[in-house]
Amino acid sequence: MQPTNAKKRKSSRSKPDLPNTRRIERNLRKYFPNRLPSNLPRHVAIIMDGNGRWAQERGLPRVEGHRRGAKSVAAVVAISREIGIDYLTLYAFSSENWRRPRLEVNSLMHLLDEYLSGELSEMLEHGIRLKAIGDLSRLPRAVRIHLEQVIRRTSEGRGMTLVLALSYGGRSEIVHMARQAAEDARVGILDPARIDERYVSDHLYTAGIPDPDLLVRTAGEYRLSNFLLWQTAYTELYVTKKLWPQFRRTEYVKALLAYADRERRYGMTHEQIAAQRRKK
Ligand code: FPP
Repeated sequence: MQPTNAKKRKSSRSKPDLPNTRRIERNLRKYFPNRLPSNLPRHVAIIMDGNGRWAQERGLPRVEGHRRGAKSVAAVVAISREIGIDYLTLYAFSSENWRRPRLEVNSLMHLLDEYLSGELSEMLEHGIRLKAIGDLSRLPRAVRIHLEQVIRRTSEGRGMTLVLALSYGGRSEIVHMARQAAEDARVGILDPARIDERYVSDHLYTAGIPDPDLLVRTAGEYRLSNFLLWQTAYTELYVTKKLWPQFRRTEYVKALLAYADRERRYGMTHEQIAAQRRKK
């Protein structure tokens, strides 16, 4: 069986430092022993919700939930890389999260800093390229500098791109893009007639990153919470009741199998999609 992403890599890229298709196939057999997915998302985005509830249910401070959640981050990053997911975007801190108690905000910043230190060697070893989206100017200076260092050091990675959404809000991302476009038009370097969907995509924080194919939300809430509002126009949504600290291998595999069963029609009919598939 040749899963989609592995196939794509083999045909379109030939750099020797890329993960090889054989290893990805072997890993897929490891993670999907009963049924290999016919189709994997190229880009998975995750709203990691439920850390607080996980802790409260156990009589622990909320920060313990975040700490446990950081372990799920490491697990999901590792699996994604091993099975050939090209992009993984994690909603780690929203622009609204600044309103949380100072102690919790500080703990989250501290966890992020620890994560960057703890995972750098893993990222370098496996060619993971780190990116960040959001208003990074609001991060504590030391954390921002650390983040920028890790982004720079991993920038040549060719394995998987890990995108951390930090101090991120979808609406303010669009406002930021609109202001820039208006300013460019005002000074005469942008013709407003050139502003189209492509232009907008190319001027968001996510420029150059394909739109997510699959958006997972944990903890059972059915909302986007200001995450990737433009980019998720055609994204498949998957919601699980499991809390983020419980979201490990079994749950991720379930989400990926559910995705493989979806038919993405982009406004077309089932018959048109089936005909397209036959032509391929
Ligand atoms: C939502 O759960 C989660 C967050 C606001 C933070 C996510 C952070 C982590 C998973 C850990 C650190 C991240 C990295 C990248 C190392 P919640 O607190 O809103 O949960 P609740 O809705 O149950 O209260």
